[in-house]
Amino acid sequence: MNMYDTIFSRKSIRKFYYETIEWETLDDILKFADSLSMLTQGIKVEFKLISNIERNQGFNGPFAVRAPYYISLSSEKKDDYLLNAGYIMQQLSLYIESKGLGTCFMGGASPGWGLKNTMRFDYVISLAFGKSKEPLYRESFLAKRYPESELVVYKEEVSSDIRKMLEAARLAPSSLNNQPWRFVVYKNRIHIFAKKNPWIARPLDKLKMIDMGIMLANLMIAAEELWIDVKLTKSEALMNKSFEKNDYILTVLIS
Ligand SMILES: Cc1cc2nc3c(=O)[nH]c(=O)nc-3n(C[C@H](O)[C@H](O)[C@H](O)COP(=O)(O)O)c2cc1C
Repeated sequence: MNMYDTIFSRKSIRKFYYETIEWETLDDILKFADSLSMLTQGIKVEFKLISNIERNQGFNGPFAVRAPYYISLSSEKKDDYLLNAGYIMQQLSLYIESKGLGTCFMGGASPGWGLKNTMRFDYVISLAFGKSKEPLYRESFLAKRYPESELVVYKEEVSSDIRKMLEAARLAPSSLNNQPWRFVVYKNRIHIFAKKNPWIARPLDKLKMIDMGIMLANLMIAAEELWIDVKLTKSEALMNKSFEKNDYILTVLIS
């Protein structure tokens, strides 16, 4: 299964066999991580592969998923670094899933301090992974997601390929399944917005931007698979406008 097909069948895995994974597979995952395309050029990141088999490496708490392996991302804190983090970690997650292993993003649990201190940049997010005890895949209609009608406003009639791209975006995983993404769609552009959190949930804003990056990875993988030429830009006009319920993130130009 390739990464595009995986978008439509993956699910988060929370039960793993506590077994080692062959070194060739781990090496392949790390090589893929180092070759990933970034959303924002010029942000330095580091991946850390963590074995949790011989020694407990942290990742405790009510939302923690106990897994034999984690891969943690640390990043320079520059503009859009959270979007970029989600964007690259989702590619990695889909790649690992397409190799027949289970993954789950870890927003609610972090590596221990000792480990964090060895990271080159600021710790951002981890992915739990390993051999899954549960079925890895599910039919996409079983994914608990908002219907398209709640997320997308079509301003013009668009091609079925653009609709497919938006379907890939809609199916993205998000922290607490919040699905913050909203889309305003024209034939030649998609404006992307993130739903504002109520003030009480503002501490979750960081995870929300990671979620937005995850969704963008799905969108861009779908665009590539469907041979849709896209470019990401920011509209000055929309950036300077304030919206009651949403924040403007960026625009996907379609040629
Ligand atoms: C950024 C992020 C952080 C997440 N953190 C956790 C977590 O700490 N614990 C957990 O069990 N699941 C976590 N998840 C998994 C989500 O709960 C899951 O993706 C969502 O409920 C949708 O389910 P699905 O991935 O099976 O489609 C996280 C997902 C994302 C994208």
